[in-house]
Amino acid sequence: MKLALYSALAAPAVYALNVSLPYTAPPTAALLSPALVSFSIEQDRWVDWAGTEAPNDFFNTVLENIQNITGQLPWIRIGADSEDHTDFSYNLEYEEDIFPNSTAVTPYPEATNITVGQGFYDIISHLPAGTHVHWGVNLRQANLTAAYLETLALVKAFQSSAVTEKNITLDLIEVGNESDLYYSNGGRNSSWSIFEYVPQWIEFASNVSSAAGLSSSSYTKLIGGAFAGSAHNNLSGFSPQAIYNLGILESEPGSLITTISQHQYSGSFCTGGGAVLQDLMTKEYIRGNISVFAPDINATFENGLEYILGETNSMSCHGAPDVSNTAGAALWALDYSLYASQVGIKRLHFHEGIGYKYNFIQPVTLNYSILDGSPITPLAPHVQPPYYAAIIAAEAIGPSGTTQAIELNVNATDTSGYAFFEGQQLSRAIFINTVAYLPGANRSNTHIDLVIPGGYLASSQMTIKRLNIGYANDTSGLTWGGQSYETPDGSVSGQETVETVNVSDGLDIQETEAVLVQFL
Ligand SMILES: *[C@@H]1O[C@H](CO)[C@@H](O)[C@H](O)[C@H]1NC(C)=O
Ligand SMILES: *[C@@H]1O[C@H](CO)[C@@H](O)[C@H](O)[C@H]1NC(C)=O
Ligand SMILES: *[C@@H]1O[C@H](CO)[C@@H](O)[C@H](O)[C@H]1NC(C)=O
Ligand SMILES: *[C@@H]1O[C@H](CO)[C@@H](O)[C@H](O)[C@H]1NC(C)=O
Ligand SMILES: *[C@@H]1O[C@H](CO)[C@@H](O)[C@H](O)[C@H]1NC(C)=O
Ligand SMILES: *[C@@H]1O[C@H](CO)[C@@H](O)[C@H](O)[C@H]1NC(C)=O
Ligand SMILES: *[C@@H]1O[C@H](CO)[C@@H](O)[C@H](O)[C@H]1NC(C)=O
Ligand SMILES: *[C@@H]1O[C@H](CO)[C@@H](O)[C@H](O)[C@H]1NC(C)=O
Ligand SMILES: *[C@@H]1O[C@H](CO)[C@@H](O)[C@H](O)[C@H]1NC(C)=O
Ligand SMILES: *[C@@H]1O[C@H](CO)[C@@H](O)[C@H](O)[C@H]1NC(C)=O
Ligand SMILES: *[C@@H]1O[C@H](CO)[C@@H](O)[C@H](O)[C@H]1NC(C)=O
Ligand SMILES: *[C@@H]1O[C@H](CO)[C@@H](O)[C@H](O)[C@H]1NC(C)=O
Repeated sequence: MKLALYSALAAPAVYALNVSLPYTAPPTAALLSPALVSFSIEQDRWVDWAGTEAPNDFFNTVLENIQNITGQLPWIRIGADSEDHTDFSYNLEYEEDIFPNSTAVTPYPEATNITVGQGFYDIISHLPAGTHVHWGVNLRQANLTAAYLETLALVKAFQSSAVTEKNITLDLIEVGNESDLYYSNGGRNSSWSIFEYVPQWIEFASNVSSAAGLSSSSYTKLIGGAFAGSAHNNLSGFSPQAIYNLGILESEPGSLITTISQHQYSGSFCTGGGAVLQDLMTKEYIRGNISVFAPDINATFENGLEYILGETNSMSCHGAPDVSNTAGAALWALDYSLYASQVGIKRLHFHEGIGYKYNFIQPVTLNYSILDGSPITPLAPHVQPPYYAAIIAAEAIGPSGTTQAIELNVNATDTSGYAFFEGQQLSRAIFINTVAYLPGANRSNTHIDLVIPGGYLASSQMTIKRLNIGYANDTSGLTWGGQSYETPDGSVSGQETVETVNVSDGLDIQETEAVLVQFL
C-alpha cells in the first residue's frame, strides 16, 4: 500500500533539450510531396475499397480529409501480392477470389486465385476526383495473356468518361510485385536471378506498354523494381543498381520507367511470434530501416528517376498484434515518413488490406478479430491509430505545394524533430517522443527550448497542437488537437484546440506524444 502510494506520487522525471532551428531553409532542405503519406491496396478485395454499385463513402471521406489539408489526395497503388495471382476474364463483371481459411496468425488471408473482369478496373471511377493511381499487372505467372488482358482492361477503364471527367489518372503501371522473391515463393525455378528477371521484365513490359499505348509522350509511365529487398551495390543480386547495370533503362520499355519503387517492412509477423512496440518506435531503428536505401536512391537520382517506397508498413504479413494497430505505430509512421523525406523518398505507400492489423483505414465492417481471428460483434468501418500520422504529416506539409523540411539535430535517442519552411522561411516544426509509455510506468516530460539563431520571427508567439495518447498500446481514443477521426463516417469531429505560448517559453513533450508547432 505504502509502496504503491509512493510510486503514484513520485514526480515524473523531467528532461531538457535545446533545439536549434534555422530561420531560413538550408540548401539541404527537402521539397515535400503533398502525397508523402500515400497508400497501397491489396487488390484481392479492391471491390470493398472502391465499392461496386456505389462508391465506398467511408474510404473516400478519409482520403478527402487529407486533401482538405494539403490540397492533394494521397496516391493509391493497387496490386501487391494479388497482382501476381490475378487472371482476367471477359465472363466476369467484378472479381472472383479463392481464399485460404482464416487462422489466428492470419485472420484475413490474401486470395490465392483472383479472376477479374472489366468492372474491377472501371470502379476506379468511384474514387475522389483527382486521385493519382499506380496499378500492377501479373508477371509471376509468366502468362503474357494475363498481363496483356489486364492492361487492356486497365487502360479502357482510365479512358472511360466516368474516369476522365473526374481527372483520375493512371500515373504508373507496375509489372510484377517483389519479383526478387519469385524463386522462394514458387513462382520460378532455382535459376531465377536478376539476369533472368531483366529480359523477362522487358518482354512483359514491352507487351504491356504497347497494349497501353505508352510512349515518351504519354502521361502514364512505368514503375521499375518493386523488389522486396535490395542487394544494393551487389550487381548480381536484385537492386535498382543491378537493373541499371544490365541496361534496363536503355530498353524500349525501360525508357518509360520514371519511378523506382522499393518495398520495406520493419519486421515480420509471417509466422506469428511476439513483436515489441518499443522496438518499432525506436529512433535509431527507424533511421536504419530507411537509410539502408541511400546507395539505391543515389544511383536512382544519378539516372534522373524518382524513388518511392511503393509498399511499406510496420511488420510484414499484415502487421503484429498490439504493435501495428496501436497509437505507438502512429508515432512510428509519422517519424518514418518524415525521415524518409530527408533521404529523397518522394512517397511512402502504406500497405492496406481488409482486416490487416497495420491498416490506417478499415473501410468495411469486420466480423472477426484482426488480432486473432475470433468472432466479434460486427465492427463498422473506422480508422486505426496510424491514420493520425497521415493527418499530422498533411498538416506539417500544408497546402502550398512548395513546403521544404529538414530534420532537426535533437540531442536525444528518443525524440526527433523536423522544421518546415514556406517560401524559405521557418513556418512549423514537429517533435515526436517515441518512448512507448505503457501502464504501470511513470511518464516523463521533456522540456524543449527552441533556439533560432539570428532569426527574427514575424511574431514572438507560436501555437502548439498535440496528439493526445493515453498509452502507447492504445488502439483507439486518440485525439489530435482535441479532435477525433474515429467517427462513423470518417469525418473529423470536435473543436480544434491549440495552446498559444511565447516562442521563448519553449514547450513540453511527454513520452508517447507528437506536437506540431506553428510559428505565428
Ligand atoms: C540550453 O541553453 C542554455 C543557454 O545557453 C543553457 O544554459 C542550458 O544549459 C542549455 N540546456 C541544455 C539541456 O543543453
Ligand atoms: C472538405 O472541404 C470541403 C470544403 O470545405 C467540405 O465541403 C468537405 O465536407 C470536406 N471534406 C471532408 C471529408 O471533411
Ligand atoms: C507481394 O506483395 C505482398 C503484399 O501483398 C507481399 O506480402 C508478398 O509476399 C509479395 N511478394 C511476393 C513475391 O508474393
Ligand atoms: C493465362 O491468363 C489467361 C487470362 O488471364 C487465363 O485465361 C489463362 O488461364 C492463363 N493461363 C494459364 C496457363 O494460367
Ligand atoms: C477450411 O475450413 C473448412 C471448414 O471450416 C475445412 O473443411 C477445410 O478443410 C479447410 N481447408 C483447409 C485448406 O484447411
Ligand atoms: C489457382 O491458380 C493456380 C495457378 O496459379 C492454378 O493452378 C489453380 O488451378 C487455380 N485454382 C483454381 C481453383 O482455379
Ligand atoms: C501481347 O501479348 C498478347 C498475348 O500473348 C498478344 O496477343 C499480343 O499480340 C502481344 N502484343 C505485343 C505487342 O506483343
Ligand atoms: C488533372 O490532373 C493533372 C495531373 O495531376 C493536372 O495536371 C491537371 O491540371 C488536372 N486537370 C484538371 C482539369 O483538373
Ligand atoms: C528454369 O526455367 C528456365 C526456363 O523457364 C530454364 O531455362 C532453366 O533451365 C530452368 N532451370 C532449372 C534449374 O530447372
Ligand atoms: C552519389 O554518391 C556519390 C559518391 O558517394 C556522390 O559523389 C554523388 O554526388 C551522389 N549522387 C547523388 C545524386 O546523390
Ligand atoms: C547531448 O546530450 C548528452 C547527454 O544527454 C550530453 O552529455 C551532451 O553534452 C549533449 N550534447 C550537446 C551538443 O548538447
Ligand atoms: C497495454 O499493455 C499493458 C501491459 O503493459 C496491458 O495490460 C494492456 O492490456 C495493454 N492494452 C491493450 C489495449 O492492449
